[in-house]
Amino acid sequence: MKLAFIIDPISKLEPNHDSTVAMIEASQDLGHEVWITEINKLSIIKGKAWAKMSQIKVNPTFFREKQKLKNYSWYEISSIELICLDTMNVVFMRKDPPVNIRYLYATYILDMINPMNTLVLNSPRGLREANEKIYALQFHQFMPATIVSKDKEAIHNFVDTYKMAVLKPLGGKAGEGILILDLKDPNLNSIIEISTYQGQEPVMIQQFLPEARYGDKRIILLNGEPIGAVNRVPTGKEFRGNMAVGGRVEKAKINSQEYNICKTLGEKLRQDGLYFVGIDVIGGYLTEVNVTSPTGIREINNLDQKNLGQEVIEWAVSQ
Ligand SMILES: Nc1ncnc2c1ncn2[C@@H]1O[C@H](COP(=O)(O)OP(=O)(O)O)[C@@H](O)[C@H]1O
Ligand SMILES: [Mg+2]
Repeated sequence: MKLAFIIDPISKLEPNHDSTVAMIEASQDLGHEVWITEINKLSIIKGKAWAKMSQIKVNPTFFREKQKLKNYSWYEISSIELICLDTMNVVFMRKDPPVNIRYLYATYILDMINPMNTLVLNSPRGLREANEKIYALQFHQFMPATIVSKDKEAIHNFVDTYKMAVLKPLGGKAGEGILILDLKDPNLNSIIEISTYQGQEPVMIQQFLPEARYGDKRIILLNGEPIGAVNRVPTGKEFRGNMAVGGRVEKAKINSQEYNICKTLGEKLRQDGLYFVGIDVIGGYLTEVNVTSPTGIREINNLDQKNLGQEVIEWAVSQ
């Protein structure tokens, strides 16, 4: 079968960390033809979605022998061809945030793909509807106390009530812009002003969970079902657990409380075409639903001797 991945520039991908690379590798192992493209290489011609794409071959020895040699490329790509995306069996939209206007335009182009021929994962409509921070609030019963606001007084009142809170920009990822709000902090007002662009842009304010120091659990869901988990533990010098800021990965099980969250969420994710999703759970509380390009499967594969890349590809090509 033919699979296409819409990605960030290939040279920026981390072969031993990115879930996208794990899926590309699994696709090749399963005998599929793999193509890559970027959002700025998409177009609509005669009512169909097209992309300038290159075929990619990954170098199996790079992964099997865990080689990380400098100047040793983990992939080879062919010259670029303009191809109609209806000829692909699956198109994986795996572009990292920000979900800006260019990202949104790309989702409109992907809307033109014929769903009878091709599965787009995640669905362009779902990607437009699900802000990674706000989507979770549809399940606020599983979340810590949380508001979304740009109003300084409302934010102050919240911090007053909970003493300590976490501020999250609505478009952030990988720990970017996440700040602790502390009533005693002399910079509190400035932090609120800067983060809300002087009261013009809403942010998420969430009760600070002390359990965060024991880890932020990433649970991967495929078609609404949990398929694996990994815990990310902050270094101690840094309160954020994200791998991108040095969080240590640790083997993790999914407990009954977390299964319950997945069960409730899973139904809605399926309805919204959000087939490959990573949720974040801290101390049993849902904090985020990652839909754009969730990571974690490389780490789960290593810790649990799984091959989630293959599970995802096998599921996607069987739809
Ligand atoms: N309510 C919270 N209390 C304490 N720490 C938190 C809370 N929410 C998030 N964090 C920390 O901040 C990190 C990033 O938060 P998250 O909401 O997952 O945003 P993103 O991963 O998109 O940057 C988490 O890994 C966790 O360590
Ligand atoms: Mg997160």
